[in-house]
Amino acid sequence: MLNKIIVQTESGDHKIDKNIYGHFAEHLGRCIYDGIWVGEKSSIPNIRGMRKDVVEALKGIKAPVLRWPGGCFADEYHWKDGVGSREERRPMVNSNWGGVVEDNQFGTHEFFDLCEQIGAEPYICGNVGSGTIHEMQEWIEYMNWPDSTPMSEMRIRNGRKEPFNIKYFGIGNENWGCGGKMTPEYYASVYKRYNTFVRDYNGQKIFRIACGPRNDDYHWTDVMMRDARCCMDGLALHYYSRMFSSGESTTEERGSATDFPEDEWALILRKAHNTEELVHRHSAIMDRYDPEKRVALIVDEWGTWFEVEPGTHPRFLYQQNTMRDALVASISLNIFNEYSDRVRMANIAQTVNVLQAMVLTDGPRMLLTPTYHVFDMYKGHQDATSLPVYTESEQYSYGEYSMDKVSASASRADDGSILVTMNNLDTKKPAEIRTVLRGTRIKNVSGRILSSSSMHLHNTFDEPDRLSPQNFAEFKAESDELKLTVPPMSVVALRIES
Ligand code: AHR
Repeated sequence: MLNKIIVQTESGDHKIDKNIYGHFAEHLGRCIYDGIWVGEKSSIPNIRGMRKDVVEALKGIKAPVLRWPGGCFADEYHWKDGVGSREERRPMVNSNWGGVVEDNQFGTHEFFDLCEQIGAEPYICGNVGSGTIHEMQEWIEYMNWPDSTPMSEMRIRNGRKEPFNIKYFGIGNENWGCGGKMTPEYYASVYKRYNTFVRDYNGQKIFRIACGPRNDDYHWTDVMMRDARCCMDGLALHYYSRMFSSGESTTEERGSATDFPEDEWALILRKAHNTEELVHRHSAIMDRYDPEKRVALIVDEWGTWFEVEPGTHPRFLYQQNTMRDALVASISLNIFNEYSDRVRMANIAQTVNVLQAMVLTDGPRMLLTPTYHVFDMYKGHQDATSLPVYTESEQYSYGEYSMDKVSASASRADDGSILVTMNNLDTKKPAEIRTVLRGTRIKNVSGRILSSSSMHLHNTFDEPDRLSPQNFAEFKAESDELKLTVPPMSVVALRIES
């Protein structure tokens, strides 16, 4: 067989941090408003203003962590505008995302309520670009100091007696771009200054996340690790799988999410594969300064970025989601699992109605995207022990793009079962795969598959289950080996008991 996956089941020295399966929700287009927050008076079923269907969906994939309020929005956000009586909240212009009026109905209290409803850990990104140190310091005091100070008393007056105890806190977003167009040397100084006043109040140790590089800006990583590693717990890389790396690309250059030729299929999957080189090289720089791997590499924005759906606002970034997106998720998550000794959080952009979303909504209707189903099939990797995997693959090539057609990752759960996830990117040919689980005798295998009959198939509000996982049994198990046939355009998850 031309494709081989070898899993070393008796090795494995660290866990795959569940936060690798994290999410990102920004005040952008219909992500927060419509997608999550409909308000208490809405006819759409909600709990304290949050859509029940969306919360249930996110619980279904065990969304472990949620990043908010941006994105570029974070460096324009003034948190005090979003607390207190909703009728009196101060509106603002959301200049990055369509110049629409943001009425601040969803703020700090609503965000923590959402996270509590989902069961996700909150991750807040603070405003460095246009906010003051004092403002950031007061936000931390508001969230984490118990009582008897101006900020904690304001929180109590606003309805929350106990501190929120925020743990994950980002000090700025994309400060090389929309967060202030800084050089790494300048940002490293600014970071240290802001960070000094982010206090560990009331025994809550803050996990401090610094703005990291864009794509392959290795100089940024080098400078941040050299000058600021003392004071950070995580460095945040942003990388999107899109046709061109510039955010300024024109309509045509972004390509359609659903109506594309095979060379765009291949290009986007190639871009997803490039994540490995980025993670590898940024990690290697971090290793030079931090061989113990104390500082995490956090991929806190990743996913696909296409042209918006026809007729929708060009800055609302609403895009559909096909098997190509599912494969981008599968490739990327396999890479994060493999590098999970350094990559300890990743947040796909963005949860609802924006970019590579988990769910799309249309008034009261909601659909689960193919990407959602990949997160569902992979959720067994959360906090499981990472197992080393060696993969030998045929090439999938189209036009000028070529890459491994099969990628895989594996983990062992606390109950001893092994989860192996894999894919086949080829649009026409199945992949015959020999999977060897070194050190086991296979007793029982159950499989699930997400597969598409065309590159363009996607779930719609009228037909929401065109793409959904099915049982998979195209394998033969013998001793420590499985022989399987994975159809074209598929993601497979196998749970193996030995
Ligand atoms: O996710 C959309 C935008 O992409 C974010 O606001 C920004 O951080 C990035 O450029």
